[in-house]
Amino acid sequence: LLIGIDVGTSGVKVVLADLDGRTVAQSTRTYDVSQPQPLFAEQDPEIWWEQTCRALQDVFVKSGANPGNVRGIGLTGQMHSLVLLDEHGAVIRPAILWSDQRTQEQCDWIHSEIGLEKTIDLVANPALTNFTATKLLWVRQHEPEHYRRIRRVLLPKDYIRYRLTGEFASDVSDASGTLLLDVAGRKWSEEMCERLSIPLSWLPTVHESVEVTGRVHEKAAQATGLVAGTPVVAGAGDQAAGAIGNGIVRPGVVSSTIGTSGVVFAYAEGIVRDPKGRLHTFCHAVPGAWHVMGVTQAAGGSLQWYRNEFAQLERSTAELIGRDVYELLSDEAASVPPGSEGLVFLPYLMGERTPHLNPLARGVFFGITGRHRRAHFVRSIMEGVAFSLRDCLELITGLGLPVEQIRVSGGGARSEVWRSIQAGVFGQDVCTVEANEGPAFGAALLAGVGSGCFEDIVSACDARIRVHASDAPNPSHVPIYAKTYDVYRALYTSLQPHFV
Ligand code: XUL
Repeated sequence: LLIGIDVGTSGVKVVLADLDGRTVAQSTRTYDVSQPQPLFAEQDPEIWWEQTCRALQDVFVKSGANPGNVRGIGLTGQMHSLVLLDEHGAVIRPAILWSDQRTQEQCDWIHSEIGLEKTIDLVANPALTNFTATKLLWVRQHEPEHYRRIRRVLLPKDYIRYRLTGEFASDVSDASGTLLLDVAGRKWSEEMCERLSIPLSWLPTVHESVEVTGRVHEKAAQATGLVAGTPVVAGAGDQAAGAIGNGIVRPGVVSSTIGTSGVVFAYAEGIVRDPKGRLHTFCHAVPGAWHVMGVTQAAGGSLQWYRNEFAQLERSTAELIGRDVYELLSDEAASVPPGSEGLVFLPYLMGERTPHLNPLARGVFFGITGRHRRAHFVRSIMEGVAFSLRDCLELITGLGLPVEQIRVSGGGARSEVWRSIQAGVFGQDVCTVEANEGPAFGAALLAGVGSGCFEDIVSACDARIRVHASDAPNPSHVPIYAKTYDVYRALYTSLQPHFV
């Protein structure tokens, strides 16, 4: 058996899988994000640990499996979020999360000190508010009493590793999102750390994702139900681990994932940089490979906002007839023609990363007429999200990376109409893979390699991840989406000066 642990933003998910890649049991234990001020997003790492312990206990209770049969554990989790420990290994302040947007000033400072080009040269990416180092500089500036006590800086999954094994370690894919990794060289960038005056001694050792970094210790075994001595592999950031779970392990196979955020992810054999930094260039969890990805901040998040604020009717109906509210919203979207009769949505509810790198961008509905019903709004949200994912795809092909097969995943891929919108907007088939448990499953596969059950991660994926079904674009929809996409692009250009 293998275990994958995903320390996510809304909860921790543990997957217990057998060596054929089948899920034996899984458990999700949730927690909240605290927003003590506008733009802030924080979480207490202790909650991650408590919920990890519970979710681990759950999978053993549910499956009746013997923890002694677990050959390895893989870790994954939300990327970029900053965990600070003092000399005793105690947490100094709540973790500042990836979605926290307080650090624009620090980003501007980095670019003025080092220059955008040099930053991309050193760490393959520009300074973005999401990235860890900017959060660390914020603490230095605003909380010097906390900053003085720092001895260790960790990412969320690596904090769980510390609690499980006592080791301070990370992996190259997750470390890529700190702004401190020499992504080309797959090691910490001494020059970047020096320029930002961040001591290298604070950073964990970095490993390839499949390497064993330690073993579960006695105290953790008691808290979790695991057996002491079980190996823990380095694992990966949630995007790279999710890609492993989707089989994105060779050129030409690309994923489009609609979760809260939306991500288009492509494998790269060598390092490829976007000179404008609109795509992230990170190390992949496949040893010696890289990936690029484009991120839409509010993908499923846009539809979730609509559900919360405007779908009271659907919510009560769903409850009454025992169906999922998103299924009802999908049915509504399907009742409206492609192009939503001229209603266009820009999904910039949380600013935007790819392609605009503009935290101040805002959501827009354009073209409302008296004909438009609520269903049009639902469909235009789905279409607007697909347009923003197409923006990502365009940049990826612009870098010369092939896009031969698109695998869709995440909550958005469960909706038939949203899959068909993606196919129509991309002008290409989209397919789904069987039984995808997301990043936690990818982490379990990485554990399979590290513990010697599988030879390497590419063959492990090839043997266990099968394409399940595919949706072809409807030829009559493609030109309609192409026209609407042009309007969508033009709208941002026109409105950009007003996003202040
Ligand atoms: C990736 C990113 C998010 C978080 C969410 O760059 O910011 O996907 O990893 O968990």
